[in-house]
This record gives sequence, C-alpha cells and structure tokens, in this order.
Amino acid sequence: MSTQDSLIQVRVRAVTYEADGILGFELVPMPPLKDLPAFTAGAHIDLHLPNGLLRSYSLLNAPGERHRYLIGVNKDAKSRGGSRYMHEVLRSGETLTIGAPRNNFPLDETSPMNVFIAGGIGITPMMSMIARSQELGTPWRLHYAARTRRNAAFLDVLQGHHGNPNVELRLNFDQEAGGQMLDLAAIVQALPAGAHVYCCGPLPMLAAYEQATAALPPERVHMEYFAAKEAAATDGGYVVELARSGKQVDVRPGQTILDSLLAIGIEPPFSCQEGICGTCEVKVLEGTPDHRDLVLTNAEKAANDRIMICCSGCKTPKLVLDL
Ligand code: FES
Repeated sequence: MSTQDSLIQVRVRAVTYEADGILGFELVPMPPLKDLPAFTAGAHIDLHLPNGLLRSYSLLNAPGERHRYLIGVNKDAKSRGGSRYMHEVLRSGETLTIGAPRNNFPLDETSPMNVFIAGGIGITPMMSMIARSQELGTPWRLHYAARTRRNAAFLDVLQGHHGNPNVELRLNFDQEAGGQMLDLAAIVQALPAGAHVYCCGPLPMLAAYEQATAALPPERVHMEYFAAKEAAATDGGYVVELARSGKQVDVRPGQTILDSLLAIGIEPPFSCQEGICGTCEVKVLEGTPDHRDLVLTNAEKAANDRIMICCSGCKTPKLVLDL
C-alpha cells in the first residue's frame, strides 16, 4: 500500500512521445536511493500528483530493472485531472512522489504459453509480461488492438521480436481500411492447450473477454480493468467499527465506507476510488462485505476476509475492520 512509509521520491528523467495521445515517462530514483524496489510483471505504481490526485499506472519495463520505472499515460478525453496533469504539466527534470509497486495482475510463470490481448493503453502491463516471458523462454502471442497504427504505442519494441519463432504478433487497427473489432471468441477458441490468457483494455473489450473465456478454467484467465464495472455501494445504513481504536462510524446513504471515514478526519490509503487498484484494501474481522471491486477474484470475495473500502459496502448491520 502507498502508506507514508513506502512513499518514494523519483525524478522524471524523460518524457517521450509513444503514440498519438500516449506519453512515456521514465522515473529514476533520487539520492540517497540507488535502486527502486523490485517489481513483478503486471505490477503498477501509484503516482501522488502535486495537484492532490492519486493515479495508478502499470510498469512497462522488464521486471529485473531497478534503476528506473517506465510508465505509459494515455490522455483521457474525460480526464478528471490525472492524465491531463501528466500530459500538460509534468516535465522532465521534475520530482514526483510514488508508492512502491503492487501487483493485482501477476503473470503465472509456470504457464507453457502466454496469450496477451491488449486494447489501446491496455498494452502497458503486457509490455512487462512480454519482457518476463522472454526471460523465461515462454512462447507468447500478442493480439494488440488500437484505433489506428498512429494510436498504437511501443510498436517499434514489439516489432523487434519479429522473426522469433516463439512469438506471434497480431496487430489490429479497427479504424483503418479493412480493420475490424477483435474477435475474442475466435481468439479464445484458438488458444493452444494449457495457455494462459491475459486481457487489459476498455470495458466493452473486457466484457466480451469475460464472456468468451467463461468456460475456461479460471486459473488460466487473467484480466485487469482500468475503470469501474459496477457502481460503488452507497446505500449506507450500517455501522463500521474500527477495531484498532474501537471507533464506530455510521455509513449514511450516499456514502462509501471511505467517504464516511474521510468525513471524520480518518485518512486510510486510497487511490483510484473505483475498485481497480487495491490501495484501499482492508482486512475484515466481522460482517459481510458487499463487494463491488475488480481487484479480488471471485474466490477471494467469497472468503469475505478483506474489502476495498472505496467502493464496496456491507450486507450486515455492522462491519468490523482492521483499521
Ligand atoms: S482506492 Fe483503488 S481499489 Fe479502492
């Protein structure tokens, strides 16, 4: 979690144009720190922006690298200030506060083959997974969809794998002549035996992916969301007890648990407020959560022993949290 203890100061060493609407940022440690914390393929970091916003971005460099983190940022037309700040204000040479890497989208390193499906900026976590697959010698196939070639980041790196017999690169530009939407059902049907499949992209793509992979063993199906799929639980009408202080907080209609805590001056770690980053995860000691997040798997949700307090609610009159 991005607690005060795990915050890291980095310098923006370079800002690069990667595609129309997509900038790359190279973040390096600041003295006395020599190395950044290690990370695993699929991990992300929280950026604590000077405008007060917290935003999560996937790390796209090879997981063995400790001297820098690379992220890619898409300029979101509906930006609430995060991607706009990154594109219009942040410049190379400036400093930034980040949280240590966390991973909600890990690569299964035992898989005999990896199939990656990326839509738009969803390519970023796949870049570190591809680098790791290369290190492990695991064959991989990438289906990469973008509106046009000009909108597709990292094509030069990806095309550098051309000719590698363990690699298949299938590019799909749906707004170019002859282009069409990815046929996820056909991609899933053509999966090699035992392959693990990973998808990251816009909501309609992930919805189609969930449908296409419904019959596959869940341990072979992986996905990461960039935006909430369900509305937050804001019915309220229950009490949250904070076990460490014994404090009881009423969660009123219209509030999330996080809202109710912030309203009384308690500031637990949080970032996306959409149930996708995992920063606000808290242990549940008593009560039944109403899970609305996209971080926990179905099995983890059924265990009811943790909750994302930015979006999930409570089905019982009282919820006791390890806070
Ligand atoms: S703040 Fe991101 S999951 Fe709650």
